[in-house]
Amino acid sequence: MAVHLPCLPVLLFVFLAVHVPVTHADPPLLSTYNVSMCSESFWCGSVEIHYPFYLANATEAIADYSGNIFSCGYTDLSISCKLEGQTWIPTIRLDGDDYTVENISYHYDHQTILLVDSDVLGGAGGDCPAVRHEVSFNETWLHSSSYNDNLTFLFGCCDPRGHGPVPPEFDAYKINCTQFKSPPGAGPGDSFVVIMTSEHNRYLEQELAMNCNMTVTVPVNHDVLMAASNQSNFTSGGYGDVLKRGFELEWSRITGTEDGCHLCEASNGQCAYSQHREFLGCLCHRGKVGSPDCKRSSK
Ligand SMILES: *[C@@H]1O[C@H](CO)[C@@H](O)[C@H](O)[C@H]1NC(C)=O
Ligand SMILES: *[C@@H]1O[C@H](CO)[C@@H](O)[C@H](O)[C@H]1NC(C)=O
Ligand SMILES: *[C@@H]1O[C@H](CO)[C@@H](O)[C@H](O)[C@H]1NC(C)=O
Ligand SMILES: *[C@@H]1O[C@H](CO)[C@@H](O)[C@H](O)[C@H]1NC(C)=O
Ligand SMILES: *[C@@H]1O[C@H](CO)[C@@H](O)[C@H](O)[C@H]1NC(C)=O
Ligand SMILES: *[C@@H]1O[C@H](CO)[C@@H](O)[C@H](O)[C@H]1NC(C)=O
Ligand SMILES: *[C@@H]1O[C@H](CO)[C@@H](O)[C@H](O)[C@H]1NC(C)=O
Ligand SMILES: *[C@@H]1O[C@H](CO)[C@@H](O)[C@H](O)[C@H]1NC(C)=O
Ligand SMILES: *[C@@H]1O[C@H](CO)[C@@H](O)[C@H](O)[C@H]1NC(C)=O
Repeated sequence: MAVHLPCLPVLLFVFLAVHVPVTHADPPLLSTYNVSMCSESFWCGSVEIHYPFYLANATEAIADYSGNIFSCGYTDLSISCKLEGQTWIPTIRLDGDDYTVENISYHYDHQTILLVDSDVLGGAGGDCPAVRHEVSFNETWLHSSSYNDNLTFLFGCCDPRGHGPVPPEFDAYKINCTQFKSPPGAGPGDSFVVIMTSEHNRYLEQELAMNCNMTVTVPVNHDVLMAASNQSNFTSGGYGDVLKRGFELEWSRITGTEDGCHLCEASNGQCAYSQHREFLGCLCHRGKVGSPDCKRSSK
């Protein structure tokens, strides 16, 4: 299995698990690992990726004799790096949906990741992309950011009585773009976009939703939305610009004293987790695995 990434010559991983019984009460299931699999840092396009983020392919390669798969970081912070055309694109999968990673901030008081729904960047719909799903993720390591506002989309909207168009009072919110295609399953009818910042709009959205088959609410950046919401082109492409600028999530361990990872990190190790988010061991220098920290790694 070979991956070729810029700025990182060695990413071909062959792994040898040597199981050495250790006497510690709660030994890791693996006692050594190939350090080049969990490389310290690499670039995917313009995004620097390092612990607790890690390359998705690396995890697939580290398994112990009993089939436990070790991550090189926090389970959910797995990044796939793929070449599209001339560009390396980092992608994260959250609850089954792909998001393009635009930036990661590792600053201790600003630990954030900037994401864009990969469907929105896919090019379908031109200036007016369609969102197909809400944004959901497990909150063990990822959290919503206060810099986000909500944007609500309503698809497959008809007047419920006559199956004609929706009453004209909602026209200001109608998506007005010839290339626009509503997502699969929405059925025929018009589509609308409502900015969810006021009580008025909440009421309006509820009224409108009674005429529609499908409602999808997604986070967008507050400042970007405010700047675009007053433009006359908002429903004919401006909202698409807002979606393409993405939204931010915060990443961190919430409490972190219950599973041993804090001890591992305090000893300069990297926490390895299972696919089920269980702490499995501490990846230490020179390929040793400790439990729970690098002071107690195998000799
Ligand atoms: C893993 O690497 C292979 C190439 O060796 C590539 O085809 C595949 O897309 C990669 N998978 C992920 C999840 O990055
Ligand atoms: C560790 O990985 C490197 C790079 O993929 C490889 O050359 C080396 O043979 C591996 N070492 C072991 C012990 O598997
Ligand atoms: C990425 O985030 C860092 C840290 O917050 C910031 O300094 C940098 O300007 C950002 N880059 C882009 C392209 O947004
Ligand atoms: C998040 O992950 C934890 C650990 O795997 C799990 O216990 C919890 O149920 C998950 N939460 C959701 C909403 O899936
Ligand atoms: C956006 O919607 C989500 C889910 O409906 C909600 O939890 C969150 O508070 C909303 N955010 C804002 C800024 O209104
Ligand atoms: C909802 O979708 C169904 C088919 O999925 C369609 O028959 C119906 O007309 C749609 N309703 C509206 C209001 O668009
Ligand atoms: C839709 O957009 C076109 C071109 O921007 C404009 O001429 C037309 O009046 C708009 N229609 C509505 C209903 O807003
Ligand atoms: C948007 O327009 C409204 C009135 O049309 C105005 O009161 C408000 O200040 C404008 N907001 C921005 C950010 O320009
Ligand atoms: C909408 O208008 C703004 C301001 O004029 C412009 O910067 C933006 O490119 C326009 N977006 C589209 C999709 O036309």
